[in-house]
Amino acid sequence: MKKLFSALLAAAMLAGCSNGGASTPSAAPADEAKEYNIGVAIYQFDDNFMTLYREELKSYFESLNTDDVKYNVTIVDGKNDMNEQSNQIDNFITQGMDVIILNLVQTSSADALIDKIVAAEIPLVLINREPLAYDADGNTLDEAYEGILNNPTVCYVGADARQSGTYQGEIVAELPDHGDINGDGKVAYLMIEGDPENIDAQYRTEFSIKALTDAGIEVECLDDQIGNWAQANGETIAKNALTQYGEDLEVIFCNNDAMALGAAAAITAAGRTVGEDIYLLGVDALDECVEMVNNGTMTGTVLNDHIGQSHTAVDVAVALLNGETIKDYYWVDYVKVTK
Ligand code: GAL
Repeated sequence: MKKLFSALLAAAMLAGCSNGGASTPSAAPADEAKEYNIGVAIYQFDDNFMTLYREELKSYFESLNTDDVKYNVTIVDGKNDMNEQSNQIDNFITQGMDVIILNLVQTSSADALIDKIVAAEIPLVLINREPLAYDADGNTLDEAYEGILNNPTVCYVGADARQSGTYQGEIVAELPDHGDINGDGKVAYLMIEGDPENIDAQYRTEFSIKALTDAGIEVECLDDQIGNWAQANGETIAKNALTQYGEDLEVIFCNNDAMALGAAAAITAAGRTVGEDIYLLGVDALDECVEMVNNGTMTGTVLNDHIGQSHTAVDVAVALLNGETIKDYYWVDYVKVTK
């Protein structure tokens, strides 16, 4: 009897709290928050840019948690190993993730991973490493990729790497001497590339130089080496080129800022001065590089907007969780960073 009385009293109190008493009062406990499990597979944690990206992705998901909805985010490190990442995706499928966000180790393995994720009916947001279309012989084509076009719950969120390369070249073309420090009529450069399988590396390498030649500037490639996005490699490659080519070397293009940080150390060690006898370009706009651009120890960089990209990836993942229709591609602009 006492129990029934307290229940009635509680119901009466709840009814008193409801606005105007119009809605039906209920003593039932509030619904529990809806929980979603999100699996995020990053190609490699040991990468300056992708570290910023994944941290922002995590904190943005956290900021979306409310009393009604909770996002449980699991982020795994592919350690730049395709087998490792494939196993991680198998685990995500077994664990019944509600959505997967995937930064591929190798874009050439996109089909295999997408197929199993789609077969498991898990929506998928690809990020940062864009898988490309390819022909029957496996040659990549400059077209949208069927794994995205044919699957309504698969999309890509990223930035068009052609734009970042073009901006690097334009920064040099816009210098008073257009990059030709010694006035011999051509820009002699060193290219330090990221992972060659990666379209970001391919496009930045191609389009930085194209922007110069499109501006009518003559170029000479002194050397083109692969640094796999890593600072230490950038330093070694720049050091060797500075030793080999000396004053002939006028511009160092790096496909990313991490490698430019390494090249900057080599430039200092060689007694050279950015802005006076050499130019140095990167991409990403890491905080330390923006500072270097401002104090003149780097010529320029290009903002690879990890905030815009990670927020878009999360927003699209949430749309997929809500069963909304999504687009195939979401593009986030690069931004030129000069003094
Ligand atoms: C690029 C970025 C690089 C590296 C790479 C990894 O977009 O500029 O610094 O993080 O992605 O795929």
